[in-house]
Amino acid sequence: MQIQSIPHHLAIIMDGNGRWAHQRGQPRTIGHVKGTRVAKEIIRECSRLGVKYLTLYAFSSENWHRPQMEVSLLMKILRRYLKRETENLVKENIRFSVIGDFFRLPEDVMESIVAAQNATAHCDGLQLIFALSYGSRAEILSAVKTIAQEIVENKLRPEDIDEATFKEHLFTKFTPDPDLIIRTSGECRISNFLLWQMAYSELYFSPVLWPDFKKADLYAAFRDYEKRQRRFGRTSVQIENLFN
Ligand code: FPP
Repeated sequence: MQIQSIPHHLAIIMDGNGRWAHQRGQPRTIGHVKGTRVAKEIIRECSRLGVKYLTLYAFSSENWHRPQMEVSLLMKILRRYLKRETENLVKENIRFSVIGDFFRLPEDVMESIVAAQNATAHCDGLQLIFALSYGSRAEILSAVKTIAQEIVENKLRPEDIDEATFKEHLFTKFTPDPDLIIRTSGECRISNFLLWQMAYSELYFSPVLWPDFKKADLYAAFRDYEKRQRRFGRTSVQIENLFN
């Protein structure tokens, strides 16, 4: 499969697990189990294709409001994923990290995350980021609060705050903004995901439910991305001149 332009940073909203299960008369949790298998396959394929950063929206801050049984199952899936996959991540040179309200997670999940982060810290291939207990508005608010505190403590002057300073206070300070954001399941919304970071991201909405998402669907998204002209506010002519 020939793709000319692979996004440097791909972010995915993996949506549709519940509907996939419902269509089969199964509990929602079965959709999450199948969704996890798909995530593993897509992580491996992104690594193979040379995507440098992959952010997966695995659990939003709003997902805490789901029925207790579903939340517990999602935590169990995470625990199991981290336990079983860390060794494979190391083998595949994939570095693992997390963004979100880490301290809201169950203690043993936090411990497994720290263990996976430590074990993969030396890996310099794909940088795999799970957004867990993540909400973009909360992330932005937390940045604003820290900046305000730094001003009170005379560590920062209001006139010195620019976009770079702001970015420094986000969970994603070490990560470039996403080039492409894919949302599966036909829903066309962003659901509190990377709101600051997506200012110039390309968006791709796939009708496929996440548990049915295949490598071919990923390639279709990349082919579509390849055709986009990213202008960052400039004109087409300016962009063409930049590359000629
Ligand atoms: C959205 O589907 C999906 C989630 C809230 C969880 C996503 C989690 C996984 C795919 C499993 C965890 C992944 C890893 C890699 C450990 P939904 O339940 O909102 O589906 P619906 O919109 O059809 O109800």
